[in-house]
Amino acid sequence: MSRTSVLITGGAGFIGSNLCRYWVTTHPEHRVTCFDKLTYAGNLSNIADLIDAGALDFIRGDVADAQTLHKAFERIQPDLVIHLAAETHVDRSLVDPQVFVKTNVLGTATLLEASWDLRRRTGRPNLILHMSTDEVFGSTPKDQSFDETAPYRPASPYSAAKAGADMLVGAYHTTWSLPVAVVHPSNNFGPYQFPEKLIPLMVHNIISENPLPIYGNGRQQRDWIYVEDLCRALDRLSRKAEPGQHYNVATGRLQENIDLVRGLCDLTDARLGRNQGSSRALITHIEDRPGHDLRYALDVAKMTDLGWSPKWTFEAAIEATVDWYLSHREWVENVTSGAYRDYYDHMYGRRLSEAATEPTQ
Ligand code: NAD
Ligand code: TYD
Repeated sequence: MSRTSVLITGGAGFIGSNLCRYWVTTHPEHRVTCFDKLTYAGNLSNIADLIDAGALDFIRGDVADAQTLHKAFERIQPDLVIHLAAETHVDRSLVDPQVFVKTNVLGTATLLEASWDLRRRTGRPNLILHMSTDEVFGSTPKDQSFDETAPYRPASPYSAAKAGADMLVGAYHTTWSLPVAVVHPSNNFGPYQFPEKLIPLMVHNIISENPLPIYGNGRQQRDWIYVEDLCRALDRLSRKAEPGQHYNVATGRLQENIDLVRGLCDLTDARLGRNQGSSRALITHIEDRPGHDLRYALDVAKMTDLGWSPKWTFEAAIEATVDWYLSHREWVENVTSGAYRDYYDHMYGRRLSEAATEPTQ
């Protein structure tokens, strides 16, 4: 019998590299291939050890490039596809929405077509897990949580492009019975997250004693899930998901950005032996993100019914994450050099120079 073949798109990015590592460790009997364009967010060094050890195959390519993707499908003959490749940063989508439409919508359309083309000839893949986000549902009203039947109300070009991809997924399932299920994770954190997202950005700035930019009053709420718990959820879904269904993956615990950042300041100060409270002085409220969703809250009863729940407490996971960034400063320096620096200056340069600093508490 041939080995189960697993294709992970976007496997050199944050969730993808954690998932590749999780998958080759948990399922050494599978043949795993990462397909990634290696944009600014994709870093081959995240998975180089797996590739060098022969545990992971790698193909460089753009999911929106039909020829390359069809060739890859032909070669890999995947039984399972986990589609993560996407442009993912909301703030970038406000600056350059087109690339989000190209990768997230056209890229997903191309992936669905390649899957359908292979499936009708060979019966493979058996399952495609398409990664959506909680953001497609828009901001959740106070005291409510959204289950998987909530209407789509995307607010940013990022979430609108993710929503467009989800609609195509639904169409391929309804029209051709393509076995594809949609996953809606909440905000992930953990090792290898590009330091433009809240947690690694803040840890990096705390270490280097730079301002900590908080959008608006910082009272926006997010549900933070440790990336390993998402990997476990995807593993379970690879066995239990029903094609055509949607699955929320979150912890059920919300935190305000400002509280999260204050906690990060205190934790990192303690680790660095700095005076408690010293990094809080770096907190700087800046102009809010346009269209900023106030609150994301998901109902995860469907995943609980499948026997999944998060293993990590937030406290243990954030300590593990801060420790990872403290012991991987070279990784952070590498990914924040060059092109990323230009982007950072473009995003924050003016706003930080206009901003007010929060008093130490
Ligand atoms: P990321 O930005 O860290 O990584 C994205 C990866 O996709 C990178 O390796 C990049 O090189 C690759 N990629 C981008 N465009 C590509 C293209 N055209 N062709 C091939 N590869 C391409 O993103 P992430 O945080 O790891 O997110 C992975 C998936 O999970 C995305 O679909 C995202 O929308 C979804 N998601 C993420 C979160 C989160 O908190 N990180 C939450 C919910 C959903
Ligand atoms: P982010 O990590 O960009 O994820 P998302 O916007 O997809 O939820 O941001 C998480 C929250 O943190 C969001 O409410 C925006 C806020 N935020 C800041 O206040 N300052 C920052 O510099 C960043 C990057 C995010």
